Amino acid sequence: MTKPLEGIKIIDFTHVQAGPACTQLLAWFGADVIKVERPGSGDVTRNQLRDIPDADALYFTMLNSNKKSLTLDTKKPEGKEILEKLVRESDVLVENFGPGALDRMGFSWERLNELNPKMIVASVKGFSDGHHYDDLKVYENVAQCAGGAASTTGFWDGPPTISAAALGDSNTGMHLAIGILTALLGRDKTGKGQKVAVSMQDSVLNLCRVKLRDQQRLERVGYLEEYPQYPHGEFSDVVPRGGNAGGGGQPGWVLKCKGWETDPNAYIYFTIQGHAWEPICKALGKPEWIDDPAYKTAEARQPHIFDIFKTIEGWLADKTKFEAVDILRKFDIPCAPVLTMKELANDPSLRASGTIVEVPHKKRGTYLTVGSPIKFSDLKPEVTASPLLGEHTDEVLASLGYSQQQIFNLREVKAV
Ligand code: COA
Repeated sequence: MTKPLEGIKIIDFTHVQAGPACTQLLAWFGADVIKVERPGSGDVTRNQLRDIPDADALYFTMLNSNKKSLTLDTKKPEGKEILEKLVRESDVLVENFGPGALDRMGFSWERLNELNPKMIVASVKGFSDGHHYDDLKVYENVAQCAGGAASTTGFWDGPPTISAAALGDSNTGMHLAIGILTALLGRDKTGKGQKVAVSMQDSVLNLCRVKLRDQQRLERVGYLEEYPQYPHGEFSDVVPRGGNAGGGGQPGWVLKCKGWETDPNAYIYFTIQGHAWEPICKALGKPEWIDDPAYKTAEARQPHIFDIFKTIEGWLADKTKFEAVDILRKFDIPCAPVLTMKELANDPSLRASGTIVEVPHKKRGTYLTVGSPIKFSDLKPEVTASPLLGEHTDEVLASLGYSQQQIFNLREVKAV
C-alpha cells in the first residue's frame, strides 16, 4: 500500500502536545517525520507523569508514534549547520516554541525561506501574530479560557470550566495539519513554500462558533430558548453556561440510569429530537403525550423540559445505560451511554476499527493509544512505537553525509 504522504520530509521541531499531535497525524499517513530534540533531555513529555521508571512516559509515546528522533543542540554552531542541511532537503518544518524562540535561534521565516524557498514553515502559538497577547506562552487550559470555551462550559451556578478534550492542544494541531496539507497542494501549483500559522485561541474559538452565534442571538432577542435558563431564569448580556444542554435545536441532557447512586458514570445522553417526539413517547410508554398540546411541539415542551427529563429518568431507573440505549436505538432516538476511559479502552468495535491500538515499545512493553480517527478506503494507518531519545541520530546524520568519526566528534561537543 503506498502511503499518500510518502516522500514528504518533515522536520518536527515540536514539543508537548499541540505540535506533536499534528506531526504524528502526518507520520501515520506516510510522511518521514524527524523529531528534533535537545540532547540529554528531549521533549519534556518524555519525563512528565512517568508510570514506569526510566521509560518514556505515555504522554510522549501517545503523541510521537511513527517518528524518528534526532538529538540536536540548535544553539551550537555545529547543531545549526546540521539543521541548515536538513532544511535544504525537507518539505516542511513544524514548530510550537514559545514566541520568538525560533528567531532567537537564528531560524526566522525569512532565513528559512532563503535556505529553502520551497519549504513550508508551520507554527503553533498561543495567540496569532500581532495579537495584543502574542508575547504569551500558552498551555491547553489557558487557550480554553482565551478561546471562549471556558466561559461557556460548566453550570451556571459554578465557575468557568475546562473541558477534558484537548481543544487547545490537539485541536490546534489538527488545524495546523490541514494548513500544512493545503500549503503542500498550493506548492504543487506555485512551486513556492509558505508560512502557515495557527493560534490556539483561534482554534478553540473555531470550535466555539455556535457560542458566538448565541451571543448575537442574545443581543438581538434577549434570551436563548434552548438554554436551561429559559423561560424561568434570567439572562445577562453574555452567553451563559448551559450545563449539559444541547447546542442546537435539539434539547438534551445527561440522565441517570440504574446504579447512578454508586457508579458516577451510570448515565446516558438523551436527545429530544423534534421530529422523533412520537417514537420517544412510544419508547417511554407515554402514548398520551403524542398529541397532548402541552407536549406536542418543541415550543410547548420547553417550559417543562426538565419535568420531561425527570419522567425519562423514572423510565431509566431500572435499566443500565447499555440496556437503555439498546431499547432507544430501536426507536431511532439519538442517544449514547456515558462511556468511561476503561470502557473505551476495551471496546471491541474501537479495537477492530484501529481507533484503539496496542503498540509494542522497546522499553515499555506494549502500550495502548488512539490510532487514526480518519479512515480511508485505500490506507490503513499502522501505528508504530515512538522513538527513544536520539534513536535515529546516526541514521539521519549519515543520510546527510556525516562520517562515523564526524558523528563521534559532534557527540564529544554535545551538539547531538
Ligand atoms: N536545542 C537548543 N535549544 C532548544 C532546542 C534544541 N533542540 N529546543 C528548544 N530549545 C530552546 C528554545 O530555543 C528556547 O530558547 P530561548 O527561550 O532561550 O530562546 C527554549 O528551548 C525554550 O523553548 P520554549 O518553547 O519557550 O519552552 P518553554 O518550556 O519555556 O514553554 C510552551 C513551553 C509550550 C509554553 C511554549 O513553547 C509555547 O507557548 N508554545 C506555543 C504554544 C504551544 O504550543 N503551547 C503548548 C501546547 S501543548
